[in-house]
Amino acid sequence: MRLSDCHNFQDFRRLAQRRLPGPIFNYIDGAADDEVTYRQNTASFDRCDLVPNVLRGVGEVDLAVTVMGQKLALPVYCSPTALQRLFHHDGERAVAAAAAKFGTMFGVSSLGTVSLEDLRRAHVNPQCYQFYFHKDRGLNRAMFERAKAAGVNVMMLTVDSITGGNRERDKRTGFSIPFRLTAAGILQFAIKPLWAINYALHERFRLPQLEGHVDMGRGTMSIQRYFTEMLDPSMTWDDVAEMVRFWGGRFCLKGIMSVEDARRAVDIGCSGIILSNHGGRQLDGSRAAFDQLAEIVDAVGDRIDVMMDGGVQRGTHVLKALSLGAKAVGIGRYYLFPLAAAGQAGVERALTLMRAELERDMKLMGCTSIADLSRANLRFR
Ligand code: FNR
Ligand code: LAC
Repeated sequence: MRLSDCHNFQDFRRLAQRRLPGPIFNYIDGAADDEVTYRQNTASFDRCDLVPNVLRGVGEVDLAVTVMGQKLALPVYCSPTALQRLFHHDGERAVAAAAAKFGTMFGVSSLGTVSLEDLRRAHVNPQCYQFYFHKDRGLNRAMFERAKAAGVNVMMLTVDSITGGNRERDKRTGFSIPFRLTAAGILQFAIKPLWAINYALHERFRLPQLEGHVDMGRGTMSIQRYFTEMLDPSMTWDDVAEMVRFWGGRFCLKGIMSVEDARRAVDIGCSGIILSNHGGRQLDGSRAAFDQLAEIVDAVGDRIDVMMDGGVQRGTHVLKALSLGAKAVGIGRYYLFPLAAAGQAGVERALTLMRAELERDMKLMGCTSIADLSRANLRFR
């Protein structure tokens, strides 16, 4: 199977599964507990039907949107995801370059494997820096200062990860960071020599956003341990309000799901909220963000930019969310599997397919701009 044989999400997932050692594929593909929310995220779009208009004269389609003051050429952006150089040796460099080429936003994770400074210097497209609130207040301050100095456009605090989700696939495979070749792991890597060669021959694996604060040299850190040992479960809305004031710029919260919390985000001066259940990787049983979207847009959509992510695999998924009132839609695995399959070329192919689906589906909907989309285009079963 080659990259040119990939025409959709499932094709990229299959190719990634062939290229990646099992523990790493399962870290991406996995979710919490019984992975019910993971499956519901995508299934939620199937419970919504599109009602197109015809004979509207749809020559050119304009896909541009402005969200949190950032002008994007696509209504889709790359949600922040950790450890990308584990999936492909170019990691965040490949994804940031592809996002820049398509004129959209890229989220840099605090568990990223390329420094936020390098990524900011490399591209001018909008970048947000996603961070977690650590017990180590010095680390929190250092992250803000680095992001300010680097010229990050938007700060993004992820608030749905106050402790680690129960990732049973990772427990079974022994997935950890930095990656340790355990006895079980060695076999997994022996059967994926290309990945192992790339991992060994390219720059040393590191977490530049955390260096100086997390000793990754000794032992290994599981994602769940990072969340449990390093993040501050006592974080409150007052702490976040202080962060918003300290940052003094565009600030959004990722992982909001309730109307009450959406209203509090408005009250403390956030520029945006991302409805998200972390791709089903945190609280299994959470409602799909798409199912929750209308209620949140009705409550606060006139006062804050509402975005969503989770389960997006098609252009029609994006159009359904935009029709409900989302200002833009995040993708995670939709670009991670292509990254793992083929690096920057993979992510660019995925974004090419997404843009083509958006253009085609907008024309079939009788729409020429995102503003033409509305709830009149939707019926729920
Ligand atoms: C994530 N996600 C995530 N979110 C975040 O705020 N910081 C992070 O470091 C990560 N890391 C991460 C790693 C991997 C492998 C995945 C799959 C996801 C969550 C991500 O930003 C997004 O919310 C989900 O991926 C959206 O769901 P889909 O599009 O993957 O279904
Ligand atoms: C995850 C963390 C890193 O979902 O956000 O794996």
